[in-house]
Amino acid sequence: MDDAALIEHSLELVAARVGDPAPLVYARLFAQFPELEALFVRDVSGIVRGNMLTTTLECLVDFAGARAYAHHFVGSERVNHGGLGVPAEMFDRFYATVIATFREVLGAAWTAEIDGAWTRAAEGLVAAARE
Ligand code: HEM
Repeated sequence: MDDAALIEHSLELVAARVGDPAPLVYARLFAQFPELEALFVRDVSGIVRGNMLTTTLECLVDFAGARAYAHHFVGSERVNHGGLGVPAEMFDRFYATVIATFREVLGAAWTAEIDGAWTRAAEGLVAAARE
């Protein structure tokens, strides 16, 4: 499997284990950086958080595969998020939070191959978005 397929496969495994992973991802984010929770104060229903996570995952698959848009999109969101009060270094480490969450969810099913695909794509995308 190529990296995009490995990432998609691991997303299916995560969904099969926990359904919607958004609550776990944001719980981990806010446990580590409590100050970020207040930024989502308007997102009473969680829809924005859900959309944001979905978008980040779609961008990762795009960057690992077709590379059609993700680096441009994430690059402009990086700037937009500065206006929302999200420091650039926090923005850049969101994928690390996602990876840590999914690694814990999948346990032994998070293989070295899957880890490599996620790490390559996330590091590459974050670096490309900064350019
Ligand atoms: C720790 C890192 C991040 C924080 C704290 C954060 C914070 C936020 C907040 C507070 C909002 C809601 C804005 C509002 O009230 O209108 C939001 C929306 C959004 N974020 Fe992030 N963000 C982070 C990382 C990212 C990354 C890496 C992406 C990459 C694509 C991203 C994409 C989006 C998108 C697309 C939305 C709009 C969702 C919607 O309105 O449906 N965010 N983010």
